[in-house]
Parts: sequence; structure tokens; C-alpha cells
Amino acid sequence: LSEVVSAAKNEFHDLLESLPSEIGSTSDLLYLYNGFWYAPEDLEGILAAQQHFQAQDTDIILVTTPKSGTTWLKSLVFSITNRKQYTVSDQIHPLLTTNPHGIVPFIEQIYYDNTNPDVSHIPSPRLFATHVSYTMLPESIKTTKCRIIYLCRNPKDIFVSMRHFGAKIISPTNPACQLIPVEEAFNKFCRGVTWFGPFWEQALEYCELSLENPDKVLFLKYEDLKGDIISQLKKIAVHLGCPFSLKEETEGVIDGIARMCSFEHLSNLEVNKVTGVRSLWMVDNKDFFRKGEVGDWKNHLTDSMVEQIDQVVEQKLHCSGLTF
Ligand code: A3P
Repeated sequence: LSEVVSAAKNEFHDLLESLPSEIGSTSDLLYLYNGFWYAPEDLEGILAAQQHFQAQDTDIILVTTPKSGTTWLKSLVFSITNRKQYTVSDQIHPLLTTNPHGIVPFIEQIYYDNTNPDVSHIPSPRLFATHVSYTMLPESIKTTKCRIIYLCRNPKDIFVSMRHFGAKIISPTNPACQLIPVEEAFNKFCRGVTWFGPFWEQALEYCELSLENPDKVLFLKYEDLKGDIISQLKKIAVHLGCPFSLKEETEGVIDGIARMCSFEHLSNLEVNKVTGVRSLWMVDNKDFFRKGEVGDWKNHLTDSMVEQIDQVVEQKLHCSGLTF
């Protein structure tokens, strides 16, 4: 087995050598593969998943660009699909003691940790998350009846959020892991050179799919979730084939889920406040919660940055009607 693993590692190493690469915002090398930029471990994980992940009709796949509200989406969808088992007033609700990333795994991450993990024992509906484009999803996700939910966010807020997150993952002792100057990082972001970028290609892909096949792909925006979480929760539940009943609505089940998963509630839970428990990407659970607001970019981006990114959005997305 170890020979097979090391052959696969060598093959991946050769692949990386053949790809264009560029420094990313935390001075890590990103690689361009099929039109998108990846950190090597993410690319390795998703290529392994393409070979081994077998989707089931009942699976639910959450897709996001990093920093667009993945943590929130994971908590919302978990709470909706498990609401019979765990009511939100339940003291044993898993979100009270586990960070959403510990509940809903990233496909690229579990297949990086182990190229062929056993995910068959996970009770259905199985929830998985990923940051990859549709074209890179394992084939069985496309061919089975499993549902996809895509969440996007204003790229200006994504950039600001990413910048703050990047500051958490840099290593003071590792010169290869430092934040590059903000202007440089911003230019790269606008060229799509960012984790899983370009964000517009990914958003466009899932936006078009949601129009062509609304039963398969539900397209959501972070700003809409912030604007009216109740109607968005209903929409998600319908998409997943488990709409809220009138009884549930009058009994406050939807409000309860919204409250349970709110930024204020989740970020104040002990499990999401502790430091030193570096669960994912060498960051603390608390690093997934910063401000949780719409429009914080106004406090961080210069006028010329705003102009630059507005131009990118206009040029790349205007024909899709996607606005932020
Ligand atoms: P900010 O940095 O703008 O505050 P991701 O989960 O994809 O990594 O995205 C992280 C962003 O979502 C951060 O944005 C974080 O604060 C915000 N976030 C995390 N949990 C949230 C929640 N329950 N409700 C709203 N926003 C949330």
C-alpha cells in the first residue's frame, strides 16, 4: 500500500512541477490547474476525491469560495437536516460543542488527509463542503441526485475577510508563510490569483447551473442571508426536500435555527472562543468568526481598490445579472 501511496505522491509532484505557479496572499505558492488557482494540498485532495469519492443521491454538497460564509452555511444546513434529531433548545445539539467545520467536512481536506477515507458510515443525508468549481467536482456528484447549495458573497467583503484570515495563518517563524503587501494581494485577487480563484468564474458556473437545473443547484448570497434569514432558511429546506411545516413555523423552529446559527450565538460559544485548538488550516475555531457583517469593505478598501474591483465585477459578471 505504501508503494501505491508514494507512487501517487510522485505523480502529483510531477504534475505540480508542470503547472504555472504564483505566490498567493500569504506568500504560499498557488498552482493554476484547469483555470483555477489551488494550494497544493487542496489540489491533491480534490484529485484524490475525483478518483475515490462516491456520492449518494441523498448527499448534500455545500460549495463556497473561502470567506464567503461557509461556516454559517454549514451550521444552517446541519441544523435544518437534523432538526428532528436535535431541536435547537436541546442541550446536546452538536453545534453547542463542536465548530461547524468539525461537523461538516471539506471534501478536499478529508481526501488530502487520506486519499481514500471511509465515508460510507456517515448517516444520510451526508453533508460535505468544498471550495472547488463545478468542473472539478467528483463525477458522481454530477451524476447522482445529490443536491448542491452554492453560497457567494460580495467579493470586496471576501477580500477583506480573507486578508484578516490570512493574518491568522501566517507563521512568524516561517519566512515562506508571510502576508504579502495588501496592494499586491489585492491585485492578485482581481486577477483571480487567490485560493480557488477566480471567484467570478466559480460564481458564474454555479449561477448558470442553478438556472439550468434549479433542482440540483441552489444559488444563495451571504447578503440575502443577512437580509432575511427566515425566507432563506425556508428556501434551503425546500431545496433539500424537507420543507418546514406550518406547525414547525408556528412553533418557532425556523426562528430557533436562525438564532442557533447566528454570528452572535455561535461566536460566543466556548468551543468557538477557545484558542490553542487549531483544528483546521492551523487556525483557531474563533478565527472563523470575525465581524459577520455586510459592507465591512468600506472600512478597509481605498477608492482606487473599489474602482478596480468594481470594474472586474462589471466586466466578468454583468452579463449574468449577478450583482452585489
Ligand atoms: P468576516 O471576516 O467578514 O467577518 P467562511 O466561513 O467562508 O470562512 O467565511 C468567514 C466569514 O463569515 C467571516 O466574515 C465570518 O465572520 C463570517 N461568519 C462566520 N459565521 C457567521 C455566522 N454565523 N453568521 C454570519 N457570518 C458569519
